[in-house]
Amino acid sequence: MTTALVILAAGAGTRMNSDLPKALHPLGGAPLLAHVLDTARALEPSRCILVTGHAAAPVEEAARALEPDIRIVRQAEQRGTGHAVACALPELADVTGDVLVLYADTPLIRPETLERMAAARTGGADLVVLGFETADPGGYGRLVRGADGSLARIVEARDATPEELAITLCNSGVLCVAAPLLRELVAELRPDNAAGELYLTDIVAGARARGLDSAIVTCPEDETLGINTRAELARAEAAFQARRRAEALEEGVTLIAPETVFFAHDTWIGRDAVIGPHVVFGPGVTVETGAEVRAFCHIEGAHVSAGAQVGPFARLRPGAELGNDVRVGNFVEIKEAILGEGAKVNHLAYVGDAEVGAGANLGAGTILCNYDGVSKHRTTIGAGAFIGSNSALVAPVTVGAGAMTGAGSVITEDVAPGALALARAPQVNRPGLALRLMERLRALKARRGMGDGSGGGAG
Ligand code: UD1
Ligand code: CA
Repeated sequence: MTTALVILAAGAGTRMNSDLPKALHPLGGAPLLAHVLDTARALEPSRCILVTGHAAAPVEEAARALEPDIRIVRQAEQRGTGHAVACALPELADVTGDVLVLYADTPLIRPETLERMAAARTGGADLVVLGFETADPGGYGRLVRGADGSLARIVEARDATPEELAITLCNSGVLCVAAPLLRELVAELRPDNAAGELYLTDIVAGARARGLDSAIVTCPEDETLGINTRAELARAEAAFQARRRAEALEEGVTLIAPETVFFAHDTWIGRDAVIGPHVVFGPGVTVETGAEVRAFCHIEGAHVSAGAQVGPFARLRPGAELGNDVRVGNFVEIKEAILGEGAKVNHLAYVGDAEVGAGANLGAGTILCNYDGVSKHRTTIGAGAFIGSNSALVAPVTVGAGAMTGAGSVITEDVAPGALALARAPQVNRPGLALRLMERLRALKARRGMGDGSGGGAG
C-alpha cells in the first residue's frame, strides 16, 4: 500500500535569525524543502501534504513550483508538531494506509531509510520512529525504552530528567503510522509540557498506553541532522558535500582533492571525468564522461561534453554549452554561449551570448561586447574561424566560417566567410627615430639640471 506524506514546515525557525523562512534556506544550492520533496518523490507517495504557517506565502510558492500536485494546509498558529499534524488530518480523512511524517528542516534522510521504516510497519510494528545514536544529543528528543527494550515514549530535551538527558538514542522526528491510528492518537494529545505545545512525539506514549507496539528504525546521524541554527545549516552542508563527494568517487569520477570540491544538489558528472582541486559547482551542471575540469573553476548552469577541458581558473555561467573536445583555459568566462566541437578559448576571454562554430579559435583577450548598456546582443562565429588576440567583437555581429580577425581589431561589421578583417590603426615605422628622440629627451633633462645623465638619478 502506498504511503501518504505529511511534511511539517510551519515553524518560525526563530533560531536561524533570518528574514528567509527556514525551509527555503539553501543546502547544496537548493532550498531545504526541495531536498525533502526529492526524498518524498522517491517514495512515490499516494499524496503529499505540506503544513505551512510562519512565512507561509513564500514557502507555499516555492513548494508549488517544486511539486505542482502538493496539497497545502495552513497551521494558523504554531502550537507544536502534534498540532501541525492535526491540521493536516482533514487532508487525510479518506486515507486508510500509512502516513509518514517528515520535517522540512531535516533534509538529508535517504529514501532507503524510509523504505526500512515501511518494512518495519509491514513487519508488524504499529508505529515506527526513526532514531539515531549521537555523541551530542543536545536539544533532540530522547527515545526512552521500557523494561522490555521496546520504545516506550519520547521525551523532549526540555522536559527530560538528567537520567533521560543522558540517553544518546535520539528522535529524528520522522515517524510512520496507519492513518486511522494517527487520527486517534493525535486527538488525545495534550499541551502538558514545558513548551505548552502539542508534541507529535507524545503519540508514542499514547500507542504504548493502548498496548500497541512501537519500533525504532535507526540510521546514521548525518541523515537526521535537524537544522535549527546557521551552525547546524553549515554542519548539514558539510554532511551533504561529504555524501556527494563519496557518491561521485563511487560513480567513477576522479576527484583529486575531494574535500575541496563543492557540489550542488543536481550536479551530474559522468564516469572517468577528472575534477581538479578547488572546483565549485553551482546548480544545473552536467559534465560528461572523460571531460576534465582543472583546479579553481566555478561552474554553474553549464554543460561540459566528453573530452572537453576546462580551466584552471575558468568560469562557466548559466547557458554555457561546451561541445566535445572544447578547450576553455585560464581566466575565461563563458555565459549563454554554445561552443562547437573542438573550439578553443584558451586565455583571458569573455564569451557571452554567442554561438561559436566547431574548431574556431578565439585568441587571448578576445572580448564579445554583448551589452550596449541597455540590451544584450548575440555574436556568431563560424566554424574554423580564427579570432586574433585582443579582438573586441561588438554584437550583434557575425564572423563567417574560416574567417580571421587581426589581433587588436574592434569588429563592428559582419565578416564574410573566409575573409580577413583588420580593424585597427595601421602601423607606421620611422627608421632611427627612437634613438634621436631619446637623445633629445636626455639633453632636455640635463639642461633642467635635474640629473647627471647617467640615468641612475631618482628624478
Ligand atoms: C523536534 C522533535 C524532537 C526531535 C527533533 C528532530 C517534537 C516535539 N520534537 O524538535 O523530538 O528530536 O524535532 O529534529 O516533535 N513545526 C510545525 N508547526 C509547529 C511546530 C513545528 O510545522 O507548530 C515544524 C517545523 O517547521 C519543523 C518541524 O515541525 O519543520 C520540527 O519543529 P521544531 O520546532 O524544529 O522541533 P524541534 O524542537 O527541533
Ligand atoms: Ca528542528
